[in-house]
Amino acid sequence: MKEQVERIQKQGLEQLVNIRSLSELTELRVGCFGKKSELTTLSRAMGALSKAERPVMGQLINDVRRKLEEVCGELEQQLKHDERQAALLDDAIDVTLPGRKPGLGSEHPLMRTIREIQDIFVGLGFEVVEGPEVEWDYYNFEALNLPKNHPARDMQDTFYITEEILMRTQTSPVQIRTMEQRKPEVPLRIIHAGRVYRRDDDDATHSHAFMQLEALVVDRGVRMSDLKGTLLAFARQMFGPEQQIRLRPSFFPFTEPSAEVDITCILCRGSGCRVCKNTGWIEILGAGMVHPRVLSMAGYDSEQVQGFAVGMGIERVAMLKYGIEDIRTFYTNDIRFLRQFSSKW
Ligand code: DAH
Repeated sequence: MKEQVERIQKQGLEQLVNIRSLSELTELRVGCFGKKSELTTLSRAMGALSKAERPVMGQLINDVRRKLEEVCGELEQQLKHDERQAALLDDAIDVTLPGRKPGLGSEHPLMRTIREIQDIFVGLGFEVVEGPEVEWDYYNFEALNLPKNHPARDMQDTFYITEEILMRTQTSPVQIRTMEQRKPEVPLRIIHAGRVYRRDDDDATHSHAFMQLEALVVDRGVRMSDLKGTLLAFARQMFGPEQQIRLRPSFFPFTEPSAEVDITCILCRGSGCRVCKNTGWIEILGAGMVHPRVLSMAGYDSEQVQGFAVGMGIERVAMLKYGIEDIRTFYTNDIRFLRQFSSKW
């Protein structure tokens, strides 16, 4: 029996050497001191010993138990300490590493295009004004010489809030709003850029919401040549000093005469290519002399003053200038697309 107890101690100490974690230690403790352990079985078997042997064996078993428990306790402290250290190391932060810089955004290509166009017009003496996207039928259509049931309204079907309130289809209503506010002040030279809406199916060149820029001049003695000179100056600053422009007769209810304005194709410089459909010209905007009826509806004396107006699609200008092929890329917020227009400011 004595040898058995000594062997238990020897085995226990040997096993302890290989313990690497607290859970292994718990297992070992169950094995050494648990109900089914050899030590416990031996204690129970002591009844069979003689009176003289019993205290000697009892002492021996207790000594071994205490010895093993003591070593287990020491090991437990050590293991707990090791585990705490490992957790701390896991969480450790190297405070000497450089920090993460917040990513700097870039200007959206449409905003950049608006800013570029605005800068040019401001340089020509124009003032930037604002106007609402939710608009009265009166400003969007009627005051622009598009009475109810006028067939030209069909081209600009939109989202209606009520019979009389709608999402504006063009930036031209800002012409009327500004004239009403400023009349009879001349000269009036304003530009406005913003979003407009149409009932349109979205595809590579159409969007139900897009951006326009409007320009308006009202003054005494304004002539078609003033319009042409302004547009030529704009085209050259925007697209390069070699630019030519071409005016083609057109129709808009609020201008008379009206023109569609082309610039020299910026890809082939006029020799003809796929983009300009071999004409050498690309249409970029609509323009004309403000219709006298529009001037007088807005409160100006159309006998005394004249005006010219310009309207262009921002997306179209941006697509031409930056070689963008699908209008939808402006709206889908794909960071790979937007990053190409890194900020200039
Ligand atoms: N508002 C017109 C449109 O959306 C564009 C336009 C054409 C504006 C001629 C003008 C203009 O100011 O003179 O189709």
